Amino acid sequence: MKEYAVELAKKAGTVLLQGFKSLAFIKNESKDPKQLVTKFDLESEKIIIGGIKKKYPHHNILSEEAGLINKGASYTWIVDPLDGTGNFTKKNPFFSISIALRYKKELILGIVYAPVLDELYATEKGKGAFLNNNTISVSTTHEINKSSIVSCEGSDRNIIRSTKLFREIRPDVLDMRKLGSAAIESAWVACGRAEAYVVTKINPWDIAAGAILVEEAGGKVTDFKGRTWNLNKSDLILSNGKLHEELLVKINEGLKS
Ligand code: IPD
Ligand code: CA
Ligand code: CA
Repeated sequence: MKEYAVELAKKAGTVLLQGFKSLAFIKNESKDPKQLVTKFDLESEKIIIGGIKKKYPHHNILSEEAGLINKGASYTWIVDPLDGTGNFTKKNPFFSISIALRYKKELILGIVYAPVLDELYATEKGKGAFLNNNTISVSTTHEINKSSIVSCEGSDRNIIRSTKLFREIRPDVLDMRKLGSAAIESAWVACGRAEAYVVTKINPWDIAAGAILVEEAGGKVTDFKGRTWNLNKSDLILSNGKLHEELLVKINEGLKS
């Protein structure tokens, strides 16, 4: 199933890449200027969902644009056909495809593919995490003042909470960034480019593949109370594990203020 997920991500990636390179302007098809959907989100989704339906017709699929296709199965594919549409429309190469598979309540595989960056992150439960077939692991940094944190407000339109987090965390860390693709932000934690990703109100399709990547790369994923992660917990911290507790204290201090 992992090989097949990689194949679908690459197929969809080729279409995104062609669109990204050939068009000077990529139109938002949605009426809401803050809810971006391009024809490429839909084309990519068609390839991925079509592929899953063909090979695994009895599996459930949860995909951002199509919603939930519920077959009452134990397997659920969780798909974001284009993560970072905002970047994509502005010709910023930080966008990706995210595909995860859940068996009952457990994530068992995750793929994040960033076609312009030519980076394919892949993992299977218990088998480690890989970037372009090379093993990756979370950073070993213990010191908060040497850490780089990625963060975003997820689908939280009220950005007061994420602003509070920024205010609390930013003075103590080396850097704090927002990349515009939750899947890439998570993948950065998995490969040690960032020590943690802190996010409020994130949707399952944005985070499922990234979360299993971080866990398989030796990191930790919890909600803001330090509890075990599940798809309904939308305030999340994905970290290298070493700074997790310290960041949780800051997060909770920040949100109280
Ligand atoms: C968005 C990106 C962004 C995150 C938003 C997501 P989309 O996904 O992952 O980084 O901050 O919460 O909705 O809409 O480009 O697939
Ligand atoms: Ca997304
Ligand atoms: Ca999307």
